[in-house]
Amino acid sequence: MWGAASAAYQIEGAWREDGKGPSIWDDFARIDGKTFEGTNGDVAVDHYHLFLEDVALMKKMGLKAYRFSVAWSRIIPDGDGEINPLGLDFYEKLVDALIENNIEPVLTLYHWDLPASLQERYGGWESRKTIDAFVKYCRALYERLGNKVQYWVTMNEQNVFIPLGYRWAAHPPAVTDLKRMYAANHIVNLANAAAIKLFRELVPQGKIGPSYGYGPIYPLTADPSDVLAAENAEAFNNEWWLSVYCTGKYPKFVMKQLKNLGIAPEVSPEDEVLLQSVRPDFLGINYYHGGTVKTNRLEKKDDTEKQFSKTDPYLMQPKSQQALTPETPMFNGVENPYLTKTDWGWEIDPVGFRIALRRIQSRYDLPIFITENGLGAADLLTPDKHIHDSYRIAYLEEHLLELEKAITDGVEIIGYCAWSFTDLLSWLNGYKKRYGFVYVDRDEHDEKNLARIPKDSFYWYQKIIATNGELLQEAES
Ligand code: FCB
Repeated sequence: MWGAASAAYQIEGAWREDGKGPSIWDDFARIDGKTFEGTNGDVAVDHYHLFLEDVALMKKMGLKAYRFSVAWSRIIPDGDGEINPLGLDFYEKLVDALIENNIEPVLTLYHWDLPASLQERYGGWESRKTIDAFVKYCRALYERLGNKVQYWVTMNEQNVFIPLGYRWAAHPPAVTDLKRMYAANHIVNLANAAAIKLFRELVPQGKIGPSYGYGPIYPLTADPSDVLAAENAEAFNNEWWLSVYCTGKYPKFVMKQLKNLGIAPEVSPEDEVLLQSVRPDFLGINYYHGGTVKTNRLEKKDDTEKQFSKTDPYLMQPKSQQALTPETPMFNGVENPYLTKTDWGWEIDPVGFRIALRRIQSRYDLPIFITENGLGAADLLTPDKHIHDSYRIAYLEEHLLELEKAITDGVEIIGYCAWSFTDLLSWLNGYKKRYGFVYVDRDEHDEKNLARIPKDSFYWYQKIIATNGELLQEAES
């Protein structure tokens, strides 16, 4: 399934329309200095009003699947009170328009815009009340859309919103506390499991799974100490989340370190039962890049040592592990000397995509839905209104070729959603960093006309879809 993706807060706008309640991102963007140049999603790219125009463009492109997320506070404005029928109506209209155009809807239940009221009243994901609220919200969507939507994503990148929200304070609720981080993460795991459990009852024919931001971790050298450091980083950055999703169990190695330091989540026997009672139908994988590490042996320190930016979601900063073990820290992030980077400093690693897919399949043995992959850039609109984004085409082409190899290797892939369909708000870079196939004419503080202009990559992807990828093979030979 050739697709493209988006998320409610990043595209919809209409932040207080038709009964929508505020989300934690609406509030966060109102606090001075929290978001990039004070940008917010009040209008975003106004998809709420322009969705039919956007779906018409998807049809023109030949898209087979469209992944979007639902804004929880449109459905239940205060998070767990009255259901707002106008919110449900909006998503049903969107789903109907997609289906009429033969585009498979892929619905994400949680893409980071928690109703603000749940944060205020209960402390958001630090409270078990938020699990009940999430289940109530999911029920409303399963009941309304369960017979129309076949693919459902529970949590988007729990491994990103939890560290950024509770360790690095780059996302709301802007906490910097490891104990609270692990506690909130456990609550989200329970909510994820409870949502899947209810799904089995109400939408037995559908498919559901979380979307995980996976990046493979490499050792800098073949020195076994570096390899061990990479295993440590892989355990803390990936296994910690993926094992719970797939087996219902926390990995023992990481849990032991957390217990030693008194920051492990409290897991009751009932929690274990819930976590182990479900298994997703697929794993959603968002792939951008991985990370490279080396051992922390002091004599090995050199110039290549990299301080990961606090805001790079794909590898927790090595410092984050400093408190975690007597072998402080367990790994140091370094530059990978073999990889080039995007303008935003994200490594470009298409082979890592194949490695990622192979690792995940062999560890967890579930079909994989690629729910995000793409390149952010400051695209230029030419005076004659074109966007020549050859760099994006090259990026996507290289990744799709590796995806094809992974399929040949035996990895089971349900679909591929590029990030993103239209340009949209970047959580950390406002409207400056663009990802779309479709340019949207707006800048940081000026909404302009929000005109949609297909980029060169739009026409390229259109051809790839029309030939079911054959064009890729031609380009390779
Ligand atoms: C991912 C998010 C997505 C988008 C991309 C670039 O972490 O899931 O919303 O911002 O990064």
